[in-house]
Amino acid sequence: MKILVINGPNLNMLGSREPEIYGSSTLLDIENELSEFASKLDNKIELEFFQSNTEGEIVDKIQKAMGQIDGIIINPAAYTHTSVAISDAIACVNIKTVEVHLSNIYSREGFRHNSFIAPKCVGQVAGFGKDSYKMALLGLYNSLK
Ligand code: DQA
Repeated sequence: MKILVINGPNLNMLGSREPEIYGSSTLLDIENELSEFASKLDNKIELEFFQSNTEGEIVDKIQKAMGQIDGIIINPAAYTHTSVAISDAIACVNIKTVEVHLSNIYSREGFRHNSFIAPKCVGQVAGFGKDSYKMALLGLYNSLK
């Protein structure tokens, strides 16, 4: 089972970026922990990691996943609240997708309460820090197997 894990803008800065909101782990720490979790869940899970600060690169990556990838976990970061293009790309490829957030977007500023991405996803996990990614993988794995 191939799962693509996409992280959007500014998530490459995790570790030093507003640690009171996003925690002290780097993106690499989160990816390594997720890989360990995945191998314990099922050693046939293959994770591919991708991070970009650019909307078009994320759209390209989702399009290229068509026919190659079984499921997507995406933290679209700020594009969650703005990107019709990423939302449309997910709808195009017909790949089960889960939206993830480190923080609870619903307890923050009003502009973070709307997601253009969630309506195209099988589920959303928000507010559990780096564990949000593990919860998303568990849910996605169970819905795909
Ligand atoms: C985020 C929440 C977004 O609102 C914000 O723009 C981010 C990170 C999160 O993981 O909590 O960059 O997606």
